[in-house]
Amino acid sequence: MTERILIVGSGAREHAIAVALARSPQKPALLCFSGAKNPGIDGLCEVYGLGSITAPAEVVAFAAEHGATLAVLGPEAPLAAGVADALWAAKVRVVGPTQSLARVESSKAFTRELLAKYAIPGNPFFQRFESMDGVDEVLARFPMQHVIKDDGLAGGKGVKVCGDHLLSQAESVAFCKELVEQGHPFVVEEKLEGEEFSLMSFCDGKTLRHMPAVQDHKRAYDGDKGPNTGGMGTYSDADHKLPFLLESDVAEAQAINERVAAALAEECGALYQGILYGGFMATRDGVRLIEYNARFGDPESLNLLTLLESDFVAVCVAIADGTLDAVDVTFAKKASVCRYIVPEGYPDTPRKGDAVVMPEQLPAGVSAYLSAVDMVDGTLVAMGSRTVAFVGVGETLAEAEAICGEAAKQVPGPFFYRTDIGTAAAIERRMEHMQKLRSV
Ligand code: AMP
Ligand code: GLY
Repeated sequence: MTERILIVGSGAREHAIAVALARSPQKPALLCFSGAKNPGIDGLCEVYGLGSITAPAEVVAFAAEHGATLAVLGPEAPLAAGVADALWAAKVRVVGPTQSLARVESSKAFTRELLAKYAIPGNPFFQRFESMDGVDEVLARFPMQHVIKDDGLAGGKGVKVCGDHLLSQAESVAFCKELVEQGHPFVVEEKLEGEEFSLMSFCDGKTLRHMPAVQDHKRAYDGDKGPNTGGMGTYSDADHKLPFLLESDVAEAQAINERVAAALAEECGALYQGILYGGFMATRDGVRLIEYNARFGDPESLNLLTLLESDFVAVCVAIADGTLDAVDVTFAKKASVCRYIVPEGYPDTPRKGDAVVMPEQLPAGVSAYLSAVDMVDGTLVAMGSRTVAFVGVGETLAEAEAICGEAAKQVPGPFFYRTDIGTAAAIERRMEHMQKLRSV
């Protein structure tokens, strides 16, 4: 059977998903449904529908009209809105968890409480609140060493970290009061110190196939300076570990993902079929959980889908059919570096509407994925968010970094990117940071 695969979403992550599906020997027909037209995805699809990806009925109607046999849901919003539930009900198989299981991302407290209930290691101290009762005591217990999180999805704006966004106890109290006034439950947790990394697993609910570890860079400017963003770029290493991690860190993160999948099955009475993305912190005392996401990371997936050697259609089918135990998933033993080009002013006051001139020829080993761009009268135009990502793949990080940089610097105009991602100096700093933490 030729699969007719519906991709929901239209960022670079979904472009990378489309490219990985399109190179399958199974030659699937691709469909896309999203709020905007991504010219990169459009070129690979038979049909491209525009509409609301958080309206289950709209997505189902499009899937039915175009005979989708399988759907891959990219972003978190449709998962939290129950689009997977609606597609399953309409007999379309789905890569992406149903609404109840997607709480692993859509509710911070749900996930912390799940780990606690099933005695899964990785939680820092945490407490959930709906009012100011008891908040002062917890803040005082971790003075300037706490993080406050809106319980629900807040588009990256719901987390405030001491020393970063919260510069005094009074600011912490004020943020908690603001959340109470908005009627938002919240979590106060201990601030962890270490290096963050992402460990994603393909999951059919019973079997997990782990992907290589990746490190994202959330700050806008070189040296981890400036405002937080959706992620400016990522790297992964040829041994599928990261230079600052111990083998045991990777094993601990993989084990946490496995135990969380099993706990979710018990808690929700349903199997988690999709991508389970653990955001971890390597600390002096081993691995701790920062958060879960119920989808591919962006940019992490750009590295990993470029490196994926296995037939991605077969992997998606196995996730949705519950047969992942019969599928081998392999990634090239190569290093990768990804950098996003973003408009000047990003993320707070990004320019919009500038032409994006792509390199005439990409260096060998580099892939490009389009994100917030539109095609206007034959010209690619930036829409004011992460614009285009370049992924360099090489035998070593140095090689991958060099070719990624070569591609990125060829894009002229009012755009910028982080020049330090994947460089030897930046990686050395992270290794030193971990060595220092581990030596005390
Ligand atoms: P989240 O939305 O939970 O990923 O939080 C956004 C960012 O806040 C993370 O990527 C971390 O950099 C930071 N963060 C969240 N929780 C903690 C924590 N317990 N300790 C230190 N940093 C944290
Ligand atoms: N790379 C961060 C995210 O996808 O949420």
